[in-house]
Amino acid sequence: MISPSTRDDNHPIDIHMRNIHNANPDIKIHTVVSVDMDYDHDKAMAIPLGEVSDEQLLAEVARRNLDLHDKITDSLVKETYNLGDPIGIGASGEVLLATHRTNHTKFACKIVRKNSSMNDAQSMSTEIEIMKRVRHRNVVSMYELYETPKCLWIILELVDSGDLLTHLATIDEHSEKLAARFIKQVFHGLHYLHSLGIVHRDIKLDNILLNHEGMIKIADFGLSALVRLGESGYDPDESKKRKSYRELHEMWGTKEYFAPEIINQAYGPQADVWAVGCILFEILCGRHAFPHEPGEDNHSHYARIKKGALDFNKSGWKNVSNGAKELVKMLLTIDPNERLSASEALLHPWIKLSHFHAHGGASVDDEKDPHSNLPLVEAHQILKMRFNERTKKKKKMTHAHD
Ligand SMILES: Nc1ncnc2c1ncn2[C@@H]1O[C@H](COP(=O)(O)OP(=O)(O)O)[C@@H](O)[C@H]1O
Ligand SMILES: [Mg+2]
Repeated sequence: MISPSTRDDNHPIDIHMRNIHNANPDIKIHTVVSVDMDYDHDKAMAIPLGEVSDEQLLAEVARRNLDLHDKITDSLVKETYNLGDPIGIGASGEVLLATHRTNHTKFACKIVRKNSSMNDAQSMSTEIEIMKRVRHRNVVSMYELYETPKCLWIILELVDSGDLLTHLATIDEHSEKLAARFIKQVFHGLHYLHSLGIVHRDIKLDNILLNHEGMIKIADFGLSALVRLGESGYDPDESKKRKSYRELHEMWGTKEYFAPEIINQAYGPQADVWAVGCILFEILCGRHAFPHEPGEDNHSHYARIKKGALDFNKSGWKNVSNGAKELVKMLLTIDPNERLSASEALLHPWIKLSHFHAHGGASVDDEKDPHSNLPLVEAHQILKMRFNERTKKKKKMTHAHD
């Protein structure tokens, strides 16, 4: 695995207690934004990550009356946050609702256990490095991070309306306009990540969250890679040049969304674009582009992905515009060099002529509107069914835990 970038090792945000006299090396607090600050996404995004100094951190430690000779335990997190109900569960751990005890702001607290077989030290440290860097309206922001000997407690902005599958399954009517609005925001977030050298590697419906305004937030950097800018030609400024980067090798992520080059174990950021293509396919017709059929072995599943054959003949595609199908093809193009990059996808008319408005309402000139006006009834039904199946599975999982 590519080790985390060291391009800004002296980044002042990388505040560890090792900088503090007599510190216990087990204790690390990474503070991104002062706890006193009312959490305001726009304001938070305006703060360059480097602006938190060691002095500010020391002041924070003093303010909280921390005894640096004591091992920080989970109780420190609980001193600052009131931990509430679980709001999500994933492979790496659970996510709880967390309310700040003094300013009552609500957050999500992702708890990653260090001793779990799912969480290796390298990917945990990469997740931290990434979360410290990202600040974009379409990517989940980290607010604070507590690291104790056993766990990481990642305090994240709360994204309060569930994931994309939940949203699509519970809306009254599903449409292409809506799909375009979501996919556009995913590409905005993805372009930002790729320009920082972050390859997400697990883009799928479950990791695309929505807030109450219907704004998309890309979540879950547990499997992500951080590429050193400039390494093997990784160009931070030109997405065209990044297309030929192929230095990632692990087959990580979720099978249905694997790009052909992941199966060949030499890939880069374009693999995320393929995954967005899979999502677009999925939300337009309800089914996976490359489903793993029951009983099928990986070999034949991967062979189908590498062939890349797309079936637009199923009835669900009848109401879908040609522009949407064209974009699906351009994203699910086998050769990563030929595939659109995230920034090129933003220029495709089906994406470009889509406008995000909080609480819905699109305003595209009717004549220019590339989106079909017909509701996506069949896709909607299938997505509802899949959502119900997933809810049942999750319930079973929770009971198994009890
Ligand atoms: N910031 C957040 N706000 C609200 N819910 C979240 C947030 N982050 C994660 N979740 C919920 O918790 C689930 C698991 O979190 P995720 O980061 O995807 O962990 P994992 O690596 O275990 O999949 C998500 O699918 C989502 O439902
Ligand atoms: Mg996840």
